[in-house]
Amino acid sequence: MEFEIKDGLENYDELFPQVESILNADEPVITNAANFTALLKQSFKKISWAGFYFFDGEKLVLGPFQGKVACTIINIGNGVCGTSAEKKETIIVENVHNFPGHIACDGGSNSEIVVPIVSNGKLIGVLDLDSYDFSAFNDNDKFYLEKFCELFVNKLDLENFSIS
Ligand code: SME
Repeated sequence: MEFEIKDGLENYDELFPQVESILNADEPVITNAANFTALLKQSFKKISWAGFYFFDGEKLVLGPFQGKVACTIINIGNGVCGTSAEKKETIIVENVHNFPGHIACDGGSNSEIVVPIVSNGKLIGVLDLDSYDFSAFNDNDKFYLEKFCELFVNKLDLENFSIS
């Protein structure tokens, strides 16, 4: 790795080159996804859970994550993840208890952001971040997380990737 990976950066600009350095097109998508979630989790104290759900052509299936045990299958249109996948839009939820259909994997979670991973218009999955804080995520998180997910899509060969 070109960069020393630092804990608790809490700074997206500094994090950007670190994301670039850990994503490696010569390694499997799952391997890249695993380190990507670890980097996010170790960089922000506010993140209680960071993980991927990948689209298997029908539903979302749990991918690499950092945090507590989570639900394994989410149907498109269900919960925050399924809604983001369906709309192909980032969703910021300031208070998950007010989000109709929110799926509570960890009862301690209070806010969430879900960013869709889309390659050439095709849904690949979603990146899901949870927090025990209320209103932990805002438009700044959205801006950078979308950039990171774009990098994920552009650097890796997702066209030939399948979770199943
Ligand atoms: N809360 C998500 C489910 C996944 S967990 O947060 C890890 C949702 O409502 O889709």
